[in-house]
Amino acid sequence: MILVDPFGRKATGLRMALTSRCNLNCIYCHHEGDVAHKDEISCEMAANLAKAAVDLGMHSVKFTGGEPLMRGDLEDILSEMPDCLDLSLTTNGIFLADRAGSLAEAGLNRVNISLDSLNPKTYRSITGGREGDMEKVIDGIEAAKDACLLPIKLNVVVLRENENEIPELIDFSRDRGLILQLIELMDLNGLGISGDIEAIEGRLQVCADKVVTREMHRRKKYFLDGAEVEVVRPMDNTEFCANCTRIRVTSDGKLKPCLLRNDNLVDIETCDCEMIKELLKITNERREPYFGKSDSCKINHF
Ligand code: 5AD
Repeated sequence: MILVDPFGRKATGLRMALTSRCNLNCIYCHHEGDVAHKDEISCEMAANLAKAAVDLGMHSVKFTGGEPLMRGDLEDILSEMPDCLDLSLTTNGIFLADRAGSLAEAGLNRVNISLDSLNPKTYRSITGGREGDMEKVIDGIEAAKDACLLPIKLNVVVLRENENEIPELIDFSRDRGLILQLIELMDLNGLGISGDIEAIEGRLQVCADKVVTREMHRRKKYFLDGAEVEVVRPMDNTEFCANCTRIRVTSDGKLKPCLLRNDNLVDIETCDCEMIKELLKITNERREPYFGKSDSCKINHF
């Protein structure tokens, strides 16, 4: 079976926040559309959710935070996941060098690592990090390669502060065999610090040897002399929403149909797998495209 929402969109993966704690304080952070929680989803609940998701035809779980490596029991959580799932992690990479091996052993398949600048000063200004943090991220990338957590994606949110570094970031990614993801800022707090992703994408279009469109969110992927660059543009993008395949889980263990909404969460007050499946189905029924929702695109199932 496979879950399909009322707009005809399949739900193929969970995006699970394991904590709202983070060792950084990025100026742009959207906190996965959530607020801080003291309670954190238990290893048992994470495992039950994943099993229910598999029963409903889902095939991937991405762990996020906050910073998921703040969880000392992340390896335990990974070990409890059903074998058939594609398991990935979105991390700032600062604690990755020491744990890449144990994470891979526990079943993690691949990582997305955030690195918004290659200039230590700019990196600290964007992330609120300490001296030496950027170098730790780079060590983390090497450790992830050694542990075969592949493919590694490098997440860069395009800001005014880093937009002139894109060529260097492309070279850095090409040299290390990373996929560069250039992400449009979701400027939820009206900070006005966005870089010009439109202009950057225009230049990629001109320079690319090849362009392909990924099914996931209809993202464009540019190949430039051996480098792979994906451009992720969620804002006001009806195509992005139309191709969303995720159900989110908040760090305190609620089901969340959309990053940008908090008025339609589904509580899980049970550990029973069959009941969790029903709650996932309810969550799926509450999914709707945030940008471009209209009754005209609603599929009539009856
Ligand atoms: N806009 C776009 N992407 C964001 N991320 C976090 N906050 C934002 C935002 N406001 C993404 C970054 C980071 C990942 C954890 O979430 O890509 O790497």
